[in-house]
Formats: sequence, structure tokens, C-alpha cells
Amino acid sequence: MRLCRTREDMRTAVRSFRAEGAFVGLVPTMGYLHEGHMELVRRARAGCDRVVVSIFVNPAQFGPAEDLATYPRNEERDLRLLKDAGVDAVFLPEAGEMYRPGAQTVVEVKNLSRILMGRLRPGHFRGVTTVVAKLFNIVTPDRAYFGEKDYQQLQVIRRMVEDLDYGIDIVGVPTRRAPDGLALSSRNVRLSAEDRAAATILNRALNEAEEHARTGPSAAALRTMLRDRIKSEPRADPRSVDIRDAETLAPVRGPLARPAVILLAVRFGDVLLIDQRVVTPQGEPDEH
Ligand code: PAF
Repeated sequence: MRLCRTREDMRTAVRSFRAEGAFVGLVPTMGYLHEGHMELVRRARAGCDRVVVSIFVNPAQFGPAEDLATYPRNEERDLRLLKDAGVDAVFLPEAGEMYRPGAQTVVEVKNLSRILMGRLRPGHFRGVTTVVAKLFNIVTPDRAYFGEKDYQQLQVIRRMVEDLDYGIDIVGVPTRRAPDGLALSSRNVRLSAEDRAAATILNRALNEAEEHARTGPSAAALRTMLRDRIKSEPRADPRSVDIRDAETLAPVRGPLARPAVILLAVRFGDVLLIDQRVVTPQGEPDEH
């Protein structure tokens, strides 16, 4: 497994993969890998000749009051996991290698970036698209893998790839969950034991909503059901509960008639957790 700490090292590694005629997959991460990331890696391993994983805690996607300094890191363990998983190269740049003095250019998907989580975390998706665009330019993958857990991020990246003609195949990989249903996330380690137990309400509420959605309720009724269910857990502080068109993320009004996505952002203590579920009213073929 090649370790590339500079853009030049990374480009040299990819050139050698291309010289073999390899189809190259990229899994962008911020490290502190868990089973959710390893599922992306396994998918990439199965679908590509060469797999590159990037580990970069991207300062541009953290707000001034957010958890950049406390974001968990464990490079040694991450590298061991990636080596065991058969990854070909890891890109591990320092912040100064990715963002050089005098840089002025950002990449922003205008509307999709400003709604939902974009309203709660202004500038967040601009930071994500800027760094992902840079990673795409450095690694030049044929295919890239992202978790469906960050559903809005996935749609924002798909839009960017389409709008900027990247020609990269974007693969969304279903959310991995702990046995009690909590979606795996690097943030989970920051939950207290009580909040960790309480956070299982998210998956339980989503399961119930999925059942309820089959009967074609109004989006408003589904939202009320979800809010009430989440609030039945006193430690949960729902910051947003949204029901949106699964593709465009436009608000759904009236009865559910097409696949919709439920997007949750709920605080437990000072940790904001997100979760999502695509739901389909009965009679509608489920393509997700
Ligand atoms: O999902 C993440 O871990 C990050 O947002 C990403 C895509 C690696 C960009 O920094």
C-alpha cells in the first residue's frame, strides 16, 4: 500500500495505475474509520482494479464553532485497516498541502448547498464540494464512493459532477448500522453512554415512518409522527425533520406519491447526529 502525503506523490501513484490500464476507485474520508467506511472500501475493492482512499480532516467544511479540533483521529489504526482491506494507495495530505496561501477558488453547488443541513451549517457544503473537487482533480478516479447516510452530501456531489462534467461514476452506499440500529458515524464516540443509548430512537422512528409511509400519508402527517416519536426520548433535541423528494430534495407537499427521503438532524448533548431513510408509498416501485 502506497502512502502519499503530497499531491505529487499521489499523482505519481495514479499515473502508475493508469499505465497498467487500471480502473481506479476513490473513497474520500476524514479518517477515524469505522465499518461504514470499510463497506465503501469493500465496494470499491469489488468494483475497481485499484483503490485509493483519502484521509483528510477538511478544515473548510467545519464552521467556526464546530468540532474541528476535537474531530477524532487515529492514523495508525486507519492505515492498518486499509492495508488489511487491500487498498492500493492512501492520500494523507496536511492542510497546508491542500490549501495553499493565496488560494481564492471555491466550488459551490448553489441551491442544494443552502437548504436543510446547509442552513444549519452555513458554508459546510461549499467546503465539501471544494475539497472533493480538489481530490477528484488530484486522484482523477473513474468512480468514487460515498455513504448514503450523508444523503444531502451525496446529492450535492452528484450535482457537482454533472454540472462540472467530471465524468466520474458516483456510487452511493447504504448506511451501515450498529446491531441496535444506530447509524455508524465517527461522531458516535463523542456521545455519553446515556446519549448513545437514547440515540437509537432515530432508527426506531425511521422504521415506523417507513411503515407509515406505505399507506401514502401527507408529508405533514409523517413529519408530525416523526417529531413526536423522536421527542418521546427526552435526551433527543430534533433540529430538523424534513421530508423531501428523494432526487431533487424539493419539499414534498400533500400526500406522498413518489419516493421521498426523510432527513433527520438531532442533537444529543453537544453532538449533532444525522440519519435518513428513503420511503416509498405503496404502489410505487422502489428504485432506491
Ligand atoms: O463525508 C465525509 O467524510 C467528508 O465530507 C468528505 C466527503 C470526505 C469530504 O471531506
